[in-house]
Amino acid sequence: MTQPEQAAETDPDAAKPDTEQTVAGMTRSAMEAAAMAGRQVAGNLSGPDALALLRGGELTVVGRLLAASNATFFCMASGPVGGSGAVIAASCVYKPIRGERPLYDFPDGTLACREVAAHALSQASGWDIVPPTVMRDGPFGEGMVQLWVETDESANIAALLDSDSPALRRIAVLDAALNNADRKGGHLLPLSNGHIQGIDNGLCFAVAPKLRTILWRWRGQKLTDEECDVLARLRDSLSGELGEDLASLLAPEEISATERRIGALLVHGRLPQPDQNRPAVPWPPY
Ligand SMILES: Nc1ncnc2c1ncn2[C@@H]1O[C@H](COP(=O)(O)OP(=O)(O)O)[C@@H](O)[C@H]1O
Ligand SMILES: [Mg+2]
Repeated sequence: MTQPEQAAETDPDAAKPDTEQTVAGMTRSAMEAAAMAGRQVAGNLSGPDALALLRGGELTVVGRLLAASNATFFCMASGPVGGSGAVIAASCVYKPIRGERPLYDFPDGTLACREVAAHALSQASGWDIVPPTVMRDGPFGEGMVQLWVETDESANIAALLDSDSPALRRIAVLDAALNNADRKGGHLLPLSNGHIQGIDNGLCFAVAPKLRTILWRWRGQKLTDEECDVLARLRDSLSGELGEDLASLLAPEEISATERRIGALLVHGRLPQPDQNRPAVPWPPY
């Protein structure tokens, strides 16, 4: 028996460096450590680079997120990025359609598409609320893949909810346009630069009014000029480029309902009030 084989038998770790799976130079244990710590390993990627990597990169599943209500996986998307062509890995979330839990009030197998559509509206708003999100094939079939957002652990979301955070108010406005039926505290991700993003947007775009949110702080308040401008731009682009992007993601009546909802917000000129006849806050709220 040769020396290396002996080492492998007596010390299981001795053989690891040769056999461990690596992705863009990261070992399996480094990827697992990133998953455990909720770390974005790519650093700051531009939006277009992130979208290109999520769409075209190789997807490696690192682990399943047990806090999720659907089959949701922490993954690495790896591939060449930018002009240099350097291969990098980025932490991301993968929700395969076939892992979606059926719901009584949304058609089966449509949540991933709704998340991608929510990203399209967020992009068109210019508010950068939804992290880069794409539809693609993966190890468990077609699904949505979203860039992982590393949150600021020191941020206190309860305190932010009790404040006049402009970032949260913008999310409240976008959610009214999206008809978001599930805006919980845990789906608001504070970043270290003070920005706040909103994830888990699968329960959006129903035709019937379903707004369920913890962001009622600004209920009934007058929309600002900037908010009106953004909503008008969204409404206009729904009959153009944005509408074309949504056509493969939503039913035609869901797209026209979105146009009507945004039109009504603009006519009314105010953020919505909770509807007294149905639950206005998601349960649980966090
Ligand atoms: N893009 C993301 N960036 C950072 N954390 C995320 C992201 N997507 C999901 N998570 C984390 O994973 C958890 C489960 O994801 P979620 O979107 O709620 O899945 P599900 O649709 O199964 O409910 C979230 O509560 C959040 O902690
Ligand atoms: Mg969830």
